[in-house]
Amino acid sequence: MRMHFLVTAGPTREHLDPIRFISNCSTGKMGFALAEAAVARGHDVTLVAGPVALPTPAGVTRVDVVSACEMLAAVQRHLVVADVLIMSAAVADWRPLVVSGSKLKKRTMPPVLELIPNPDILGAVAPLKGARIFVGFAAETGDPLPEARRKLVDKGLDLIVANDVSQPDAGFAADTNRVTLLGSDGATETLPLMRKAEVAARIVAWVEARCALYLQDR
Ligand code: PMT
Repeated sequence: MRMHFLVTAGPTREHLDPIRFISNCSTGKMGFALAEAAVARGHDVTLVAGPVALPTPAGVTRVDVVSACEMLAAVQRHLVVADVLIMSAAVADWRPLVVSGSKLKKRTMPPVLELIPNPDILGAVAPLKGARIFVGFAAETGDPLPEARRKLVDKGLDLIVANDVSQPDAGFAADTNRVTLLGSDGATETLPLMRKAEVAARIVAWVEARCALYLQDR
């Protein structure tokens, strides 16, 4: 069955002035691989991308954003037509309280940066979930499973991808990844080290199987 996937990828940037920002090491590779895998299976894909240096996969509709607030607005706008939301973006949890429109001068910059929490995108769109399939990621150093299980429940997800980011061959910026898939039905599948393209294909296959089950149960 042809579905519409809404995928987020990359980091967000939280500017304190036009040239300085808070961010993280996400390159977008995992999210772009997911977009490519979904298109390869014949699905429609909207990809909401933070600032990354990757070409748009063929057949994908791309929406570029910078900050977490912009990503939230884009997800809210495009979720209306989506059947599946996959949040693989590494969204910055905090942003500066004050944003200067011009470059801050070293001599006048405060030595302590005051931060405020960003909106939780999955939390904000939870009321719109309905029959949609929501997939989250949990990037953790150390055993990712306890935190992933907590996020699966707290964020009301159908699937969470527990991402062990403690080794250089997995997680941020790597071409390979090491993940465990945790379903809301309790099913758990630990995948071996794989290329991100293969991990993405497994996640898309999981979503397709879950969707087939939904339809069977109706
Ligand atoms: O981009 P790459 O270099 O390929 O790296 C891939 C990756 C490591 C970024 C990716 O595989 C990954 O693990 N993404 C999730 C990163 C993360 O740290 O998530 P989290 O544990 O902070 O958040 C849990 C979930 O909530 C995620 O689905 C996240 O997108 C979502 N979230 C987080 C914060 C926020 N304000 N709103 C959210 O919706």
